[in-house]
Amino acid sequence: MPSPHSPRAAVIGHPIAHSRSPLLHRYWLRLYAIAGDYERIDVAPEALRDFISAMAGRGDAGCNVTVPHKQAVMPLLDGVTEAARAIGAVNTIWREKDRLRGDNTDAYGFLANLDDKAPGWDSGGGRAVILGAGGAARAAVFALLSRGFELTLVNRTRVRADELARVFGAAVSVATPDDLAGHLPACNLLVNTTALGMSGKPPLVIDLASLRQGAIVHDIVYVPLETDLLRQARTLGHRTVDGLGMLIHQAVPGFERWFGVRPLPDAALRQLLEDDIRA
Ligand SMILES: NC(=O)c1ccc[n+]([C@@H]2O[C@H](COP(=O)([O-])OP(=O)(O)OC[C@H]3O[C@@H](n4cnc5c(N)ncnc54)[C@H](OP(=O)(O)O)[C@@H]3O)[C@@H](O)[C@H]2O)c1
Repeated sequence: MPSPHSPRAAVIGHPIAHSRSPLLHRYWLRLYAIAGDYERIDVAPEALRDFISAMAGRGDAGCNVTVPHKQAVMPLLDGVTEAARAIGAVNTIWREKDRLRGDNTDAYGFLANLDDKAPGWDSGGGRAVILGAGGAARAAVFALLSRGFELTLVNRTRVRADELARVFGAAVSVATPDDLAGHLPACNLLVNTTALGMSGKPPLVIDLASLRQGAIVHDIVYVPLETDLLRQARTLGHRTVDGLGMLIHQAVPGFERWFGVRPLPDAALRQLLEDDIRA
């Protein structure tokens, strides 16, 4: 049972009711018999500054940060990691003595998920095509550049992709959605980072017929678990990786910083989250 002195963390956002982070972190708290707590806190944009400055006083170990605070929270912290600076967003805050630090663990989660579900996926390097140019795409670009990939970004709004290419440099180029089919024959890894294909969103319309044989297809959308993109890729014989593992792995560094144990993303946790998604 948590006591007033137990370590406490939370996920903050607005709205926040949808977040699966409490399910995940509470699973690990139980597994490792840690008398801590992890809750969901709705913080409106105008309340963010006061919430962050009161964090130390409340004795919180830290928090996860989600939409719409991932950028706005950065200037309120005492420092951020290189990943957070490059990605331009913070999703994990922790205390170091009396200082607040921010990290972005999405790139870590992205890579750890691929390492876990598609061993050897990066052995040949090569070219990855990334669909999207939002916050998750930035994390994917940062992650894939660290493994030596050359990247082609394809996004509905061209200027957002151009901006990512400008920030991340010469290994990143931009193509239009109309030109996508022409880039698939040379593609080793295709990643969807758009919201398309997610339950309640429009479908992702794409024909994978020209995708290079042996290419891996990764969709970071995880509701549903098998998106239409992954189903089409699987039917054509490609290795596929869903987005649930990224959600799980990105939570590992935060849990370790707050509660002092590096948690294992085990099969029972994945099952718990799968059941929740299907429900
Ligand atoms: N698995 C995980 O752990 C994980 C982590 C982070 C995010 N995600 C998922 O990744 C997705 C994107 O998140 P985000 O934070 O990057 O969101 P975001 O910053 O809002 O970016 C959304 C992206 O989707 C594109 N998009 C949205 N609606 C579209 C439409 N109707 N047609 C074409 N493109 C459309 C946007 O294109 P424009 O630029 O043209 O608007 C943009 O590229 C969400 O589904 C989120 O749940 C998963």
